[in-house]
Amino acid sequence: MNIAVLFGGPSAEHDVSCASALGVLRALTEGGHQVSAVGVTRDGGYRLVPDEVLEKLRDRRVARAIDDALEVTGPEVELRRGAAPRTLAIHADGAVLATCDVVFPVLHGPFGEDGVVQGVLEALGVPYVGCDIAASAVGMNKVAMKRAFVAEGVPVTPYVWFDRHTWRTAADPEALAAGLRRPLFVKPARMGSSIGITRVTDDDDLAAAVETALEHDRLVLIEQGVTAREIECGVLGGWEPAASVVGEVAVSGGWFDYQQKYFGDADPMTVPADLPEAVTDRVRELALAAFTAVGGWGLSRVDLLWDETAGELYVNELNTMPGFTAHSMYPKVWAASGIDYVSLVGRLVELAFER
Ligand SMILES: Nc1ncnc2c1ncn2[C@@H]1O[C@H](COP(=O)(O)OP(=O)(O)O)[C@@H](O)[C@H]1O
Ligand SMILES: [Mg+2]
Repeated sequence: MNIAVLFGGPSAEHDVSCASALGVLRALTEGGHQVSAVGVTRDGGYRLVPDEVLEKLRDRRVARAIDDALEVTGPEVELRRGAAPRTLAIHADGAVLATCDVVFPVLHGPFGEDGVVQGVLEALGVPYVGCDIAASAVGMNKVAMKRAFVAEGVPVTPYVWFDRHTWRTAADPEALAAGLRRPLFVKPARMGSSIGITRVTDDDDLAAAVETALEHDRLVLIEQGVTAREIECGVLGGWEPAASVVGEVAVSGGWFDYQQKYFGDADPMTVPADLPEAVTDRVRELALAAFTAVGGWGLSRVDLLWDETAGELYVNELNTMPGFTAHSMYPKVWAASGIDYVSLVGRLVELAFER
């Protein structure tokens, strides 16, 4: 098949996407597919990465996953409907440079993971990998996501949410968080990679933390922090999704911030996680329930918090396009479940057609 891989994008997770995309491109090529790498610039334009550039990157290996990345370069292109039904044509100056049967949007964060690109692809009428518009939008928005979870009986940590206007006009804005135990986690509703998040232990820092979150979104959540182990589970499938082996991320300093996610020295992941069997079973059950709650299709990584002392499990969030480098948790938990990276991306492409 001819597969267009969309990567980069205007979100703060541009660099992460560039690293994920290279892994996906290599695997699709290895799986026998033809690939077109379509980079999305930070201002939303499309570029077709020249084949020579892809060729050079194919076998390169560097130390840190985030450095092993594709760059958004090449001629500016336009995405249009192809001549054959349900295909995509990559155009430049009136000429068709490539025609694709399916699109693999390896984009993280707003624009790529929140339904915007999914809407573009729906309008173009081309099959694409992963969640549809609605599931992507709900998955990206931590307020909508938690509502969906609560409605389906999926446990979440106590939280409040508000918009910028409410915060700025409240007589006593900090009273909004009065009912929550400290520490607090203040988050923009629609971000990722821990960007814009602050762990607040001292109430004097709360207002500044909310302002930081407001730099990224007009919707903000304040959550009750739990002392917990961070557990992650992959979901793969369509009508009958499956849950993977369970992984754990070792976190230091109270939470998993951007620095640790991409620039940590040691690999923080343990797969499979060392957990009692009953906890593992419950994690997998909750991962599937979370996926169903948002109306997922294709893939998601579901992240949970396990408060070992209290014996409580919470679903923290669901990522509809999780990090996808060869060193990322999502491919790792599937490899441990018997599906290697090349088979995994192949299966995701099949699922795009099954929808
Ligand atoms: N309620 C919470 N209790 C404890 N830790 C939390 C809580 N919420 C977030 N964290 C920490 O912050 C990290 C990032 O939060 P998360 O909601 O996953 O945002 P992102 O979408 O940016 O990954 C988590 O991996 C975890 O370490
Ligand atoms: Mg997270």
